[in-house]
Amino acid sequence: MRIFLLDKFFIRHVGFIYLELKSSLLLKLPTKGKFKLLKRLYVRLLINYLESFKYYISKDTFKIDQNLIKEKNFQLEKHGIQFLKNIDINKFDFLKYNTDRNPKTATTQNIIDINKAELFAKNNNFHNLARDYLNVKNCNFYVASHNTYPYEEDERVKTNFWHRDRDGIRLVKIFVYLSDVGPDCGGHFYILGSHKIKPLRFVPQFRYKDTVIQKYFNKNQIIEIYGKKGTCFMEDTTGFHRGSKPLKNNSRSILSFTYFTGPLYYDENCTFINL
Ligand SMILES: [Fe+2]
Repeated sequence: MRIFLLDKFFIRHVGFIYLELKSSLLLKLPTKGKFKLLKRLYVRLLINYLESFKYYISKDTFKIDQNLIKEKNFQLEKHGIQFLKNIDINKFDFLKYNTDRNPKTATTQNIIDINKAELFAKNNNFHNLARDYLNVKNCNFYVASHNTYPYEEDERVKTNFWHRDRDGIRLVKIFVYLSDVGPDCGGHFYILGSHKIKPLRFVPQFRYKDTVIQKYFNKNQIIEIYGKKGTCFMEDTTGFHRGSKPLKNNSRSILSFTYFTGPLYYDENCTFINL
């Protein structure tokens, strides 16, 4: 059985430490500069425990106001997510759709011209928003886009389990829906406030099932994002989030601009930019 499916506190922590040590030692994953092993362990392992410690010290609590849910007036700093102005996706000159699907896979990756995408993000004020949130003058930058189709087994798409992104010390993403997303279309889910609520039990960077998450977080905190194509939102994805499965004949396409700090970087298509 996979560790991430076990809801056992001790096993999760030991498994997490073991797997991170193993991947830091064995995998030559892209890390900048010297002391790669230590840097990787710091970002992937140690910082998770430090942030949890900080959470207990700060005693951050989170209260849900029903008007907030109705009006969707979320604030990035406070709730971990914020809607931005809708985007005219017909103006994109940096994205080529790839719908050439292998029946065995549930997703296809679209092709991005990273230089043009960066220019778009800059002209659209995304860089300024990221600079203000991350509080840095430069950072790593990555753009990705994919299409998700209906599939059967849940494990086919791992990002559809609850998880926190952990490739940066600080990290923020701007998402744009490239297709209309309503119920049954594979919407994006987020847990309001979870970018600050970091209890020890969720420190291991595994995927979590809905039943495990719902035991801890209030149902009102869990939101699904619907919207027409062009819907745009900014999210601190160190908070809990997940995709979901499109049903019937629906599919979902999404684009994400990722800004993150720290010595780790994605191998491909990742660049370092001034904000
Ligand atoms: Fe993620």
